[in-house]
This record gives sequence, structure tokens and C-alpha cells, in this order.
Amino acid sequence: RKRVLSGIQPTGGLHLGNYFGAMRSWINLQELYDCYFCMVDLHAITLPHDPIALQEDTRKAAALYMACGIDPAKSVIFVQSHVSAHAELAWLLMTQTPVGWLNRMIQWKEKSRKVGSEEVGAGLLTYPVLQAADILAYQTDVVPVGEDQKQHIELARDIAERMNSRYGGKPWKKLGGRGGRIFKVPDIMMPPAGARVMSLTEGSAKMSKSAELDASRINLLDSPKDVQNKIKRAKTDAGEGLEYDNPERPEARNLLTLYALATGHSLESAQREVGSLRWGDFKPRLADAMVAMLEPIQQRYNEIRADDAHLTQVLSEGAAKADATASRSLERCQQAMGFVPRV
Ligand code: TYM
Repeated sequence: RKRVLSGIQPTGGLHLGNYFGAMRSWINLQELYDCYFCMVDLHAITLPHDPIALQEDTRKAAALYMACGIDPAKSVIFVQSHVSAHAELAWLLMTQTPVGWLNRMIQWKEKSRKVGSEEVGAGLLTYPVLQAADILAYQTDVVPVGEDQKQHIELARDIAERMNSRYGGKPWKKLGGRGGRIFKVPDIMMPPAGARVMSLTEGSAKMSKSAELDASRINLLDSPKDVQNKIKRAKTDAGEGLEYDNPERPEARNLLTLYALATGHSLESAQREVGSLRWGDFKPRLADAMVAMLEPIQQRYNEIRADDAHLTQVLSEGAAKADATASRSLERCQQAMGFVPRV
């Protein structure tokens, strides 16, 4: 079976962008593929973080994966830092990745600008190499993510190709290896709708964990009252009715898309259903649809959190399975690069 790997930074809680951009695809994929889903805690420390919050947020994220329908009987759910091959492989790949490639990363440019070059940690620059290690360590075929990760997945492909061409040849055979490809070159997968969920307070900005205004996003654990308030206050425009295909009306497009996603209807049929409503009539319907979608997730989440021992067990089994796969790839790469095998 083909392999899938994806991950989410646990800090700050998960929101609708994470859900529609990534997690919804994961749920469908786990029926057909060998899936590995992690909470990327090593990525979450590239900006200043609170250790107590990190630990709690990582467990919360794991419980949310399960509450959203990731089934530990079908998929491997694990904490990135539990599998040491990620960090080890990242170092090997880092030595082979030009700084120029990393300097071109949009997220690096945006985030480092905010912190300032004297203060920003080196890990923020090398962050996408760790992400490449996450992916390549599982010989991943498909990486289901939102649109903002496109450049990072392309980088992972470039790193895989470079490693294969530099070290995948004859010398590796002489070293006792198989020769040929070290890493599979992964493909990106983005959902047809929801690959870029926008902020509720600014239709041209992405919904994000790091945005200051909590009203800009709907968190998967927001209470029904919060969801209603956030949607009531969401930015609108002076236009008539809702449209999903008018680039001049990003707010209308975003809220109609969210309605379609929450109800499970296509964009076209959502447009037919509510497209002629005024904002004041549409918003309560959107809020109701959102609350109805989140309610069962939150209910399952509470059940999962009530049994912490089970969650710990899931993560422990997940780490063991992930470790078995990832350490094999790490070993291949070490062998191909000429390290003395440890016997
Ligand atoms: P992160 O934690 O920022 O986001 C996790 C996933 O959610 C998607 N996403 C969105 N999709 C649509 N609309 C939005 N507004 C939105 N915001 C976030 C992201 O595209 C992503 O799929 N570097 C990654 C995590 C990572 C990873 C990996 C992903 C680390 N290693 C290996 C895949 C494979 C990140 O920070 O995602």
C-alpha cells in the first residue's frame, strides 16, 4: 500500500484551516493508504514557546486527531519527538541543503522578519529540512496538506532528488547497500475546497494560529457561543448575496466556502441554496452548520480526554510503529553517505 505522512504543529490549538486544509483529507486517506500522522512538537519550538503549554497542547492535538476520525487501529498517530530518526535524518539532510534554498522559503521570510535577524533561532531557517526528514523517513508517496505548505513539499522533493543523485549510485552498492534510490520523491495532495481557509476578520489573510486576534479563527474546541459570536462579528462587504467565485469579494467567497464545507455540499449547490440570502440571514445558518459539525467532534474529544491512560497507550504504540519505519530509512541514508555501521 502507498504511504501517507502529514503533521500539524500542536501549539496554539487546531482550527478550521487545519481541519479543512489537512485533517479532512487524512480521514479519507486512511482507508486506502498506510498513514502516519504526527504532532510536530520539534517544529513548534522554532519560535519562543511555553513548555507547560507545549506538553498539554501536544496531548490535546493527539486527542483531536482521534476525535476528528483518525483511527489508531488504521493509522499511526505519534509525537514527532518520540522518534529520534526525524532529528537525526534532518541533520544529514541539512548538510546537503543549500542555504539559498532555505532563504527563498516564504514562511521563513515572513516569520523571521517579525522576530529580527539577531534574535531569530537557526532552527526557524532549517525548519523545512526537518519537515523534509519527517516526510522522507517514511518513504512517503503522498503528503496531504493545505496550500501554504506547497513550497515546503517542493523543497522536500528537491532534497530527495539531490540525495538520490548524490549518494544513490554505485558507491552505495560497494558499501553493501542496494544502490539506486534512497528516498521516494513525495507528491503533494491538496483538497479541492478548503486548501486555503481565510481569516474571519480579513478575507485576504490566511486563518492562522499565530494571528493575534482570536476572533479571526474558529478553533475546533470553541464553544457554540464563541462560534456564533465569531461568525456574527466576521467581516462582510457591501455586496448583495454570497458568491464563491468573485475574487473581488474574498469574505463572501470564504464564508460561502466554509458553509459548503461544514454542510458537506459542493460550492455550486451551496451557492444555489444560500447565495441569494442577505448577510444577516446567512450568518446564523453558517453558525448553525458550524456548531453542528463541531459538536460531535468535541463530544468525542471530551471522551478521549477522560481516559488519559488510553491516549498515552496510543502514543506509545504509535511511536514504536513509526520508529520501526523511520529508523530503516535513516539507516539507508547513513549507509549511503558512508558512515561506519554500528554493530
Ligand atoms: P501547520 O501546523 O501550520 O498546519 C497544519 C496543516 O494545516 C494546514 N493549514 C491550512 N489549510 C488551509 N487553510 C488554512 N488557513 C490553513 N492553516 C494551516 C497546513 O497547510 C498544514 O497542512 N510545517 C507544517 C507541519 C509539518 C508537516 C510535516 C506537514 C511538519 N512536518 C510533514 C506535512 C508533512 C506546519 O507548520 O503546518
